[in-house]
Amino acid sequence: MINFKQKIANKISKVIQIEEKELETYLETPKDTKNGDYSFPCFRLAKELKKAPPVIANEIKEKLEQEIEENEEIEKVEVAGGYLNFFINKEILVKEVLNEIANTEQYGKTEIGKDKNIIVEYSAPNIAKPFHIGHLRTTLIGNALYKTYKYLGYNTTGINHLGDYGTQFGKMIEAYKMWGNEYNLEEDPINKLMDMYVRINNLCKENEEILEKCRENFRLLESGDKYCTDLWNKFKDLSMIEFSKIYDILNVKFDSYNGEAFYADKTQEVIRTLEEKEKIVESEGAKIVDLEYAGINTPCIIQKSNGSSIYATRDLAAIMYRAKTYDFDKCLYIVAYEQNLHFKQIFEVAKYLVDEKYYKGLEHVSYGMVSLPSGKMSTRLGNVVKIEDLINGTIERAQEIIAEKNPDLENKEDVAKKVGIGAIVFNTLSTVNVKDQIFDWNTALNFQGETGPYIQYTYVRTRSVLEKSGFIPNFENVKIENLLDEYSLEIMKLIYNFEDILIQVTEKNEPSILARYLIDLAKAYSGFYNENKIIVDDKDVQNARVYLTYAVGKVLKQGATLLGIEMPEKM
Ligand code: ARG
Repeated sequence: MINFKQKIANKISKVIQIEEKELETYLETPKDTKNGDYSFPCFRLAKELKKAPPVIANEIKEKLEQEIEENEEIEKVEVAGGYLNFFINKEILVKEVLNEIANTEQYGKTEIGKDKNIIVEYSAPNIAKPFHIGHLRTTLIGNALYKTYKYLGYNTTGINHLGDYGTQFGKMIEAYKMWGNEYNLEEDPINKLMDMYVRINNLCKENEEILEKCRENFRLLESGDKYCTDLWNKFKDLSMIEFSKIYDILNVKFDSYNGEAFYADKTQEVIRTLEEKEKIVESEGAKIVDLEYAGINTPCIIQKSNGSSIYATRDLAAIMYRAKTYDFDKCLYIVAYEQNLHFKQIFEVAKYLVDEKYYKGLEHVSYGMVSLPSGKMSTRLGNVVKIEDLINGTIERAQEIIAEKNPDLENKEDVAKKVGIGAIVFNTLSTVNVKDQIFDWNTALNFQGETGPYIQYTYVRTRSVLEKSGFIPNFENVKIENLLDEYSLEIMKLIYNFEDILIQVTEKNEPSILARYLIDLAKAYSGFYNENKIIVDDKDVQNARVYLTYAVGKVLKQGATLLGIEMPEKM
């Protein structure tokens, strides 16, 4: 598609001494359309040119006017204060969008990421512990980023860095030895394991002897003891069955489940390398890397005083392994902000373990807390929310709403599943990563709010318009002049921006940008729909409006798919 931004930057580069690429970064998209489609602020130039921004704007405009020819992409340029406002040729825009919609199966798909390797690490729940609502957030953010990177042509690997190792398993093993026969693990594995864990933890607090046994168990596990390894595998299998249920229902997939345990035998190399580079100091029997020099006041512990490896060491081993195995350009960690310090530490230490290309590619995509509103929902779900209950509860509610709104609908259950999950996914992804969020059934399922169901509802509306019209017109028969009104143009511009939105999602690792966009598009279509009759006598007008409807549906569906939301055809 024509890149209007680039065209404008190119024109400007002909009249001032700045490179086209850099000029592109200057260009802004004004909120108010009366300020044009793109604007160029002259403030940054003022210092260098020693002139006031409006003076500069006027000078550039004068020169530009000789450059701009009729029937080109740029229609006119205006000066407003220190800004140059560019108005693009709307006919060219509409033609471009229609052409692209008609001729691409997957609208907005590009190859800009070709030859770049991206690792997205997400979900990473802990074995024998509940999959909590925070894990839901990493799972969904990661899934959306994974899909978006892939769509833009990146060679993307999704990794579930399972929390399947650590001293707590020494405790679990001891608990199982003592009380295993009291608990029917198969019945409700994670909660039962959790109960055992709480019980042994309490016991360890008052009983040094038991604590020592737990430590011994972990040492045995680390050295490959059969009994301990078998038990650990059992805990892992039981937990994975539970986690898989959640992944299945959300349709989330991973390319690798290499978790912490996978790196257990690779931590020695981390320690050796750091020792060779003389980065390790001994502190009370433990091995640590001091990070004061980098402004990090807490040192990174590499090995405990009893010789056991720890979480950070396994992460460092993972960085070395991933650099070798995947030759990554970016390695993203979708992990809650509680671990900000941990990632600062390991990214600093990584500088001694891998080449610059790799440590520069490490990025912690931090996200805020998720909570439930106090009251009915959290009481029903208890303190520790079982994610399955939350998902099923939402689907049940969706079912009730649908039964009321559209009692004759076929496949009600399938639709309710899509709507319920759509509500959860959208609610989770519509908040900016860093912000805390609340999950509330009523808000998330509101068909009129800024929600997943609203986007689905708008999509379904486009489907029913197409059904009424009976066919999708050939785009070559669509007369552009029927799409130049304010409502249609707003939609055309949004559709034009889709690819740019996806690029922004990957640049900022922020799926909320796409979520916001889909709301804007759905709202713009609702505005158009309320303002215009679509099935009308004038066939030219009808063709244009039906085609626009088709285009909106296509983009809504594509965008939703990238977020991990499925669209029902009716609801
Ligand atoms: N298992 C950890 C948790 O649930 C998250 C792991 C994050 N990833 C990592 N590479 N450290 O808190």
